Amino acid sequence: MNRVEGRVKVTGLATYAAEYPVEAVAYAYPVQSLVAKGRIVRVHDAEAREMPGVLAVLSCEDPPRLAEDAEAELALFQSRDVAYRGQIVAAVVAGTYENARAAAAAVRVEYDPDDHDVALRTGHPGFYRPDVVNPNYPSDTVKGDVEAGLAGAAASVDVTYSTPVLHNNPMEPHAALAVWDPEGRLLVYDSTQGASPDRDTIAQTFGLPGEDVRVVSRHVGGGFGSKGSTRPHAVLAALAARAAGRPVKIALTRQQMFDVTGYRTPTIQRLRLGADAGGRLTAVEHVAYEQSSTLVEFAEQTATPARVMYATPALRTAHRLVRLDVATPSWMRAPGECPGMYALESAMDELACALGMDPVELRVVNDADAEPEGGLPFSSRNLVMCLREGARRFGWRHRDPEPGVRREGEWLVGTGVAASTYPSRRRPASAFVFVRDGDYVVQVAAADIGTGARTALARIAADTLGVPPDQVHVELGDSDLPEAPVAGGSMGTASWGSAVVRACEELRNGDGKEGRADTTGEVGNDAQLARHAFGAQFAEVRVSSVTGEIRVPRLLGVFAAGRIVEPELARSQFIGGMTMGLGMALMEETLTDEEFGGFLRRDLAQYHVPACADVPDVEAVWLDEQDGELNPMGSKGIGEIGIVGTAAAIGNAVHHATGHRVRDLPITPVRILSRF
Ligand code: MOS
Repeated sequence: MNRVEGRVKVTGLATYAAEYPVEAVAYAYPVQSLVAKGRIVRVHDAEAREMPGVLAVLSCEDPPRLAEDAEAELALFQSRDVAYRGQIVAAVVAGTYENARAAAAAVRVEYDPDDHDVALRTGHPGFYRPDVVNPNYPSDTVKGDVEAGLAGAAASVDVTYSTPVLHNNPMEPHAALAVWDPEGRLLVYDSTQGASPDRDTIAQTFGLPGEDVRVVSRHVGGGFGSKGSTRPHAVLAALAARAAGRPVKIALTRQQMFDVTGYRTPTIQRLRLGADAGGRLTAVEHVAYEQSSTLVEFAEQTATPARVMYATPALRTAHRLVRLDVATPSWMRAPGECPGMYALESAMDELACALGMDPVELRVVNDADAEPEGGLPFSSRNLVMCLREGARRFGWRHRDPEPGVRREGEWLVGTGVAASTYPSRRRPASAFVFVRDGDYVVQVAAADIGTGARTALARIAADTLGVPPDQVHVELGDSDLPEAPVAGGSMGTASWGSAVVRACEELRNGDGKEGRADTTGEVGNDAQLARHAFGAQFAEVRVSSVTGEIRVPRLLGVFAAGRIVEPELARSQFIGGMTMGLGMALMEETLTDEEFGGFLRRDLAQYHVPACADVPDVEAVWLDEQDGELNPMGSKGIGEIGIVGTAAAIGNAVHHATGHRVRDLPITPVRILSRF
């Protein structure tokens, strides 16, 4: 299927949050903190208030009312304390964007600054063990005796990797348009990954009943996690609209996005692996060090893939967190699995080198027939088939394992492999389907963030109803539609699709006119099983021995993700994830400003993401995997697994090409050249 919304998108008719035509709209522009820690002594806004078109100035001087239990990142202007540089500390509302921006620049905030600490570093005295890591895993696990397993190993590695702060850069900036009606009900057009949960959070933040808030987000230009939870811009739009007595629009600039829409926590990860002479693991230890803000504890689940991946008699995983004077980290494509598998799969490559063993074979001999940590059986697990199929397609058997010996002129050439994994979950959702003019209308408060959710759900409904997909019309992106979970955690299609199938079944088996479903009971009865998608990624790299430039002429991903609902959409998800993984491997890095706090590199001129020329040949294929333990479609989520393992495959290929192991991402020309 082609995307059902393709035509409105390419003709410019698809309406995004900031584009809804509303009468008498005003504009809000934030004022951001210039210190990383301290107290606001005074907000001097007299000059701004006199400037042309200014309708209101918001700050802690006269704090607008919000619920007392509002989340700290969303409780705008409620406190005089500054938690990070870039935090929104005031805002100006004016009749035009330009006037709002000019007046915001005239607001002077007087601070009583404190010393700040923004640097994640080994040995930080503030590290502690969080009770749980996201979404609700135990922080630490231990099985067997790691020290004994390492002591008895024929080969072992003890290596530390680091990954930097990373930022999502969806093409559509975070934007919201807030409209209050005379009865005090709030309508927010928001760029969000989930209208229902966004509605709930905004209602909670304002102390309103849920039915008094509506969120509309029919088209979203990417999110990757950064629009997975309510961000401050939406609260600011609603506060500003209340203060100005007019609808208010806010569209963050790219630079503001770097400050207030979350980021992937930097990590320091220590891996200790041991194996016997045949390559069988005797011990796995994965300890992750990460940061959160002083406002909110956000503990990323970085070491959790080690609990899933490989059979081992001794396994220890642990997470340590430090609260710094930084913005709160948030979701970024495959949070946890992505940086965690970078480290684990790089360490597996180092272990293969230490053993003199092929890295594909090392993974094959350590395949697990039950989840290594908890012993749960897998609903399906086809990692080995992905590795075998990938090796066949990539031409792996001709590979000379010797690193640093293939040279074509100035270019050193190498190949690398890594495994991928991501959980296959679903959440309760509801849906309504009915007949209109002989066609079928499916309603669900799902989000299409560029993934093609409309198209996938039309396909799922059509298959259940036994009609052609063009007879199905999907309505989504509105919290007034049947309640649905966020487009996140690779759970969207599995969750919404389950409800759509059940609603269509009810229509089919009932009066043929309408059907309604809520999968809360069904999802609650899912059997206890380990449900995960798996994959294998292969990379070829060319490294210039003169400039250190790294090119990736070939990327291949082979995935086992249950039934693929719609091949065109799936391919886009996989190659999009792999491309983002290439960015993580070689380009993407937000520098933290240790002197002043906040981030450096706050635009796309400096925060580099791959362009088409960087990915000449990226290929994704999948196995035909049957799994009856997932959901009515038999599908596993595919939004995130594509990014998992890519960076390790590329890093391993760089080692194979050059003989040098760069353990700190991104692998830049400077970092590789310094080894030559
Ligand atoms: Mo994804 S980071 O769960 O939106």
